[in-house]
Amino acid sequence: MDNKQIFISALRTTERPGVDRVIAELEQLGFFTAPASTAFHLNTPGGLLQHSVNVYKEAMAIREKQIEMKPEIAEKLPVDSVAIASLLHDVCKAEIYKEAQKWRKDANGQWESYSSYEVDYSSFPVGHGEKSVIRLLQWGLEMTDDEILAIRWHMEAWDLAFQSPEQKSNLGVAKGRCPLLNVVKAADGLASFILEVR
Ligand SMILES: [Fe+2]
Ligand SMILES: [Fe+2]
Repeated sequence: MDNKQIFISALRTTERPGVDRVIAELEQLGFFTAPASTAFHLNTPGGLLQHSVNVYKEAMAIREKQIEMKPEIAEKLPVDSVAIASLLHDVCKAEIYKEAQKWRKDANGQWESYSSYEVDYSSFPVGHGEKSVIRLLQWGLEMTDDEILAIRWHMEAWDLAFQSPEQKSNLGVAKGRCPLLNVVKAADGLASFILEVR
């Protein structure tokens, strides 16, 4: 199976009301061909899909290991929740990358043009995890509170500095009571900084 088949099959397996609309919306926005970044990890067509599948696989592996070490955590980490939260955590990035020609110097010091991406958040400037959650709810996906918390806060360290004391407190409470958030956050980090490092 290619990445798109893995992504769609894992989502449909959850049998969650709304997944077919989510898949259709993502198709229309270009999610399946978007890069995962402009210059960092997976900045190539299909990079965002590859990252999402990587996070899904990492999250499933982490889930299994956590349950092995602490069996009672299983009820807090249902397979469908891990799939929904990991596969869809970055849907906010579906339409933010635009192809752009850029210039750089080659090995001989000559200017050459190359294809790259620019990022444009202006279509819905509401935040990163927040935008993923809001879009999914707008598209009619049924989500549990834990799935919402996991997607909303998956960036933790990256936007913590810009949060108000109230939001920092919210994040602390969410981390304490939502194992799913910790699994998705860890999976996102392992995918980005181990699997996807060139
Ligand atoms: Fe993210
Ligand atoms: Fe991510």
